[in-house]
Amino acid sequence: MERGPISFARVRCMGRVLIIGAGGVGSVTVQKCAMVPDVFEHICLASRTLAKCDAIAARLKRTIRTAQVDADDVDQLVGLIRDDRPDLVVNLALPYQDLHIMDACLRTGVHYLDTANYEPPDVAHFEYAWQWAYHDRFSQAGIMALLGSGFDPGVTNVFCAYAQKHLFDEIHTIDIVDCNGGDHGLPFATNFNPEINIREVTAKGRYWESGQWHETEPLSVHRSFDFPGIGPRQMTLMYHEELESLVKHIKGLKRIRFWMTFGEEYLTHLRVLQNVGLTRIDAVEYEGHTIVPLQFLKALLPDPASLGEGYTGRTCIGCVVEGVRDGKPARRFIYNTCDHARCYEQVEAQAVAYTTGVPAMIGAMLVLTKTWLGEGVFHMEQFDPDPFMGALKEHGLPWEVMPWNGSI
Ligand SMILES: NC(=O)c1ccc[n+]([C@@H]2O[C@H](COP(=O)([O-])OP(=O)(O)OC[C@H]3O[C@@H](n4cnc5c(N)ncnc54)[C@H](OP(=O)(O)O)[C@@H]3O)[C@@H](O)[C@H]2O)c1
Repeated sequence: MERGPISFARVRCMGRVLIIGAGGVGSVTVQKCAMVPDVFEHICLASRTLAKCDAIAARLKRTIRTAQVDADDVDQLVGLIRDDRPDLVVNLALPYQDLHIMDACLRTGVHYLDTANYEPPDVAHFEYAWQWAYHDRFSQAGIMALLGSGFDPGVTNVFCAYAQKHLFDEIHTIDIVDCNGGDHGLPFATNFNPEINIREVTAKGRYWESGQWHETEPLSVHRSFDFPGIGPRQMTLMYHEELESLVKHIKGLKRIRFWMTFGEEYLTHLRVLQNVGLTRIDAVEYEGHTIVPLQFLKALLPDPASLGEGYTGRTCIGCVVEGVRDGKPARRFIYNTCDHARCYEQVEAQAVAYTTGVPAMIGAMLVLTKTWLGEGVFHMEQFDPDPFMGALKEHGLPWEVMPWNGSI
């Protein structure tokens, strides 16, 4: 029999976690898991490059296991999972690996968690259909997949669930706003994997209104927003994956959009890189070699995991929610601000990796402690937001709710 999502009060329960991906986000999640030994009894960090896992492990105060794995090879993954016996696999590699890791979890009967939805390497297109197709098989195997446990998607989905549970009787519109007001001091760098970042930013914009999806040209629709702790910034409409699940799970919703801010330097560099063909994802022949220009560009750009030192300023990400409370119109902004330098002091990472890595740890903790429990494939907003919201404050991502009177 299929069981839907269930949220329980947190029970004391320890577990074993296998984290795949030793990049900027993986490094933060491993460090934060290591700080909660009463839940994360055993940690294994595996990635394509063993030396990166070992370098992260060397920074910890406790011993963890490290391993080399090619997460595109399901047999290798199954071998590692059988050997390490985790209760949960946390996928912090790239979206290309999602389905392979889900296949390995199905073959071994182990829960799955990620922070980004599947993308085929050869098409710059992301949607949840590929992962939703695993729901029945996960349900029959008696395991759960928790999708999108980063900040956006992730915390933003939980903010919406919290607004639905505590702040509104009806929700009509949601605008998710994401600002990195920080400065890493470099002319051009991306704050998470450059290939995934550039594919996302150069895609067409998309929002949902009155029961339909509407498409806009890439980076063409702008609004101004006054971000707490940062100030007014221009932001740009984009498509982001959490819109797809929130449309299904927030009742009565009439419109949902996603906005992100970009610096002028970033946009100018991106335009030039696009114009000269360096963001192409098709293979080209160069002196007898086949190369994908965007992958070559990634090799030239700074590693996002290396950006933390000297990074100043803050991020602010949140949800502007409008609706009705006690028969009257209501508007609230639920948000977190995060300081790059303080993240570096704690885990030698910048705030974009930190704001993704901490929610991945919290999601893993709620699965391992059976606080969030289900059989099948689930999104964050399908569970009780309260334990997650409490854990955000406890583990370094405090949030605020404020009345909001502007317009977007
Ligand atoms: N939801 C959110 O808020 C949010 C925000 C930011 C990022 N993300 C997601 O978080 C994930 C990690 O981002 P990141 O910035 O940490 O990326 P990253 O620095 O590029 O790290 C990715 C890691 O995965 C490893 N990897 C790649 N392919 C692999 C394979 N086939 N087998 C094993 N390991 C493999 C890489 O190995 P090498 O070191 O050998 O290359 C690297 O260690 C991405 O999926 C990104 O989209 C989510």
